[in-house]
Amino acid sequence: MRNSSGNSFMQRSALLTLIMGAALLSAAARVSAAGDADAGKKLFPQCAACHAVGEGARHLYGPMLNGVTERPAASAEGYSYSDAMKRSVEEGLVWDDATLDAYLESPMSYISGTKMAFAGIPDEGQRQDMVAFLKRIATDGTGVVEEISQAEQADSSPVAEEEPRPLARDTVVPEHGVLHLGRAALPEEVAAWDIDIRPDGQGLPAGSGSVEAGVDIYDTQCAMCHGVFGEGEGRWPVLAGGFDSLTDERPEKTVGSYWPYLSTVFDYVRRAMPFGNARSLSDDEVYSLTAYLLYLNDLVDEEFTLSAGNFDAIAMPNVDHFIDDDRMEEPQYAAIEEPCMQDCLPGSAVVTQRARILDVTPDGGGDDDAAGGSID
Ligand code: HEC
Ligand code: HEC
Repeated sequence: MRNSSGNSFMQRSALLTLIMGAALLSAAARVSAAGDADAGKKLFPQCAACHAVGEGARHLYGPMLNGVTERPAASAEGYSYSDAMKRSVEEGLVWDDATLDAYLESPMSYISGTKMAFAGIPDEGQRQDMVAFLKRIATDGTGVVEEISQAEQADSSPVAEEEPRPLARDTVVPEHGVLHLGRAALPEEVAAWDIDIRPDGQGLPAGSGSVEAGVDIYDTQCAMCHGVFGEGEGRWPVLAGGFDSLTDERPEKTVGSYWPYLSTVFDYVRRAMPFGNARSLSDDEVYSLTAYLLYLNDLVDEEFTLSAGNFDAIAMPNVDHFIDDDRMEEPQYAAIEEPCMQDCLPGSAVVTQRARILDVTPDGGGDDDAAGGSID
């Protein structure tokens, strides 16, 4: 879609160049080439950490974006915009192809002080795709998925026939388990769940990643929340530094200062980050990010590459300050052989205090019998 309209646009622009000169053209070219909304949709995961779209979308850290080009800028009801954004609107900001393009290229330089802590989309074509996608989403949230017109549907080659669902009476009663329900999990289903990694590196996937590769991934997918140096933007978590602060009144617990094992870093990033788009990173990307987090904490140099082969060679600084849970060896637990479950105190139970006397029951309007205030 983008290619074909892009081409005709090029022809038109060639003409324009002759008539109007190159300067004006480049301004026009920036804003009017049409993007591909479906391609834009594929780029939306990087926004989804902060923005919801579609029917019933709510505000997250950022406002919901349904119909964002159909409403005045910064007008989503119930969302509290930054002062910087409100000021821009007073100065006449309206979302159109050009302003959205500029905002998405570098939100924080287009509207200095905006709450949208997002690095921006450097690629112009991708920005156009994203704008096309945003424009397709109507105020009621439809348009997230392209609706194929009936004519197009009729045109398109027939879709493969759907497999008929098996009837209940035809399903084989499983022999496994106690209740004979369900079926045994497939090896690939188990593998998809079984992703934990032990401190010694057991469970690590194949692959590797360097500090160098980590920089780019971190800068585009993590820095907007965790800060370029892991110092944390706003109140998002700090990931680096804080060494020697653990005995302070307000310790700075970071990956470097606090976490005992590197396996937790790998596992956490792989399972949970980037926030809002979990499980989107490849294994090599997670290796690279883990290496980069080590680098941000001064634990490796910039040449470092992490893999299963050298994983257990990394000792985290705070590893020795965790102790096993030895509570059961403490005298008060060790003395109890069997916990008492019956007749533990002599005599029958006696009420010694009443909630009203303790003054924890709300008043019911003065009358002792009134509902709400008379519970003892
Ligand atoms: C880290 C969170 C974050 C990410 C990631 C993010 N945004 Fe935002 N966005 C915000 C916040 C917060 C605002 C409100 C800005 C303000 O008030 O200064 C905002 C505002 C906007 C607005 C203006 C909304 C309005 O109601 O006028 C648009 C459009 C927008 N974002 C699009 C995007 C797109 C597209 C992406 C992905 C390429 C994206 N944002 C990624 C947090 C984010
Ligand atoms: C939209 C904001 C956002 C983005 C983007 C993001 N994170 Fe996070 N990150 C968070 C939040 C929020 C938490 C805390 C979550 C919690 O405690 O449940 C967190 C926690 C973490 C932690 C644990 C910190 C601690 O000490 O408990 C690590 C490590 C981490 N993120 C790494 C990353 C990496 C690597 C990326 C990029 C792939 C990333 N994050 C992207 C918001 C974000």
